[in-house]
Amino acid sequence: MEVIEKIEKLKKERKQIIESFGAKPIENTYIDREVKKMKEIYHTVITDIYEETKDVKTFTLTADKTSDTPVLAPFKAGQYITIHLTIDDAPVTRAYSLSSSPTLANKDIYKITIKRVENGLVSNYMLDNMNVGDKLDVSMPAGDFGYNPIKDEENVIAIAGGSGITPFMSLAYAILEGIYSCSLTVFYSIKTYEDIIFKREIEEINKKKKNVKFIVTLTREEKEGYQNGHISKEMLEPYIKEFNTVLMCGPKELYRSMNEILNEFNIPRKSVHYENFFVEYKPNEKITYKLKVIMKDKVEEITCNNDETLLVAMERAGIAAPSLCRVGECGYCRSVLLEGKVKMIGASLKKAEAENDYIHPCVSFPDSDIVLRLDI
Ligand code: FES
Repeated sequence: MEVIEKIEKLKKERKQIIESFGAKPIENTYIDREVKKMKEIYHTVITDIYEETKDVKTFTLTADKTSDTPVLAPFKAGQYITIHLTIDDAPVTRAYSLSSSPTLANKDIYKITIKRVENGLVSNYMLDNMNVGDKLDVSMPAGDFGYNPIKDEENVIAIAGGSGITPFMSLAYAILEGIYSCSLTVFYSIKTYEDIIFKREIEEINKKKKNVKFIVTLTREEKEGYQNGHISKEMLEPYIKEFNTVLMCGPKELYRSMNEILNEFNIPRKSVHYENFFVEYKPNEKITYKLKVIMKDKVEEITCNNDETLLVAMERAGIAAPSLCRVGECGYCRSVLLEGKVKMIGASLKKAEAENDYIHPCVSFPDSDIVLRLDI
């Protein structure tokens, strides 16, 4: 009932805004409370940078003991943190899976592993500009991806493509350190030997011959000791049992081809979990729309192309729009669409939210001029 009342209140407030197009201060809304809950920021220092490959680095982040957050929150293998940076005066965020053991968080340490991305703003900035000793703000760990000992099976098959290996390194440590009692076989598809991320760790773990095993397959070269080609039915077959849980993290094409193979093994959909870290929409023709952003005490008018999300357009314009997961899952960026139409890709909005014109700007592409109410 309380939620419904709040939504009714929001509706009235929204009506006022539409009438005035002013930026009236709106306090203590449902969104305000949700946002406040998730707004915990930890201050960290980069204490090590390890070059995994020519375009991948692992950053070790340690709680900044001189700050007001001298400890870090615990996390579950598979979760991500969001880093907060200011690049060219524009506040930006990016989510990265934690690649370290969850037990390292007890020592106030997180590790994230970042790959260079073509035209990637934040990843490339991290690789090219951040050094040991630099400070970095991160959000508390979030996300549901990973192993759930209550719901999932004891035989876990992980499928990783490229930098999608990162959450599985964390899961491997969690199992080896006794947090979970399941067995894990990670199939890791990567172009060449030189591109293998976590080479040292994978070799060490495989030598232990315990309940965690990595099977690396090189898609663009042949090398002794490694599989060759894409992950296939034949590769998986010896490791599939009567009941399995499958975790996938990698590019979309990998999900498509693996789903076909998993169907052949009759693995039910509910036993397959995906990490979703891409949002893509390719319109037939490029159109630039007007985007009016109404904040608590100001209004900004910017532009947004139909092949970029509202969030990216706002960040480009220097608006500190809230965001964490950036793939429509956490709800942190939730805003009110006052006018206009958007294409929202892959977001799960509850009915009550959808009926009240909430959208997730992180996965919303404009389909007309837009007026957006942001709770900042
Ligand atoms: S940032 Fe998580 S839903 Fe938009």
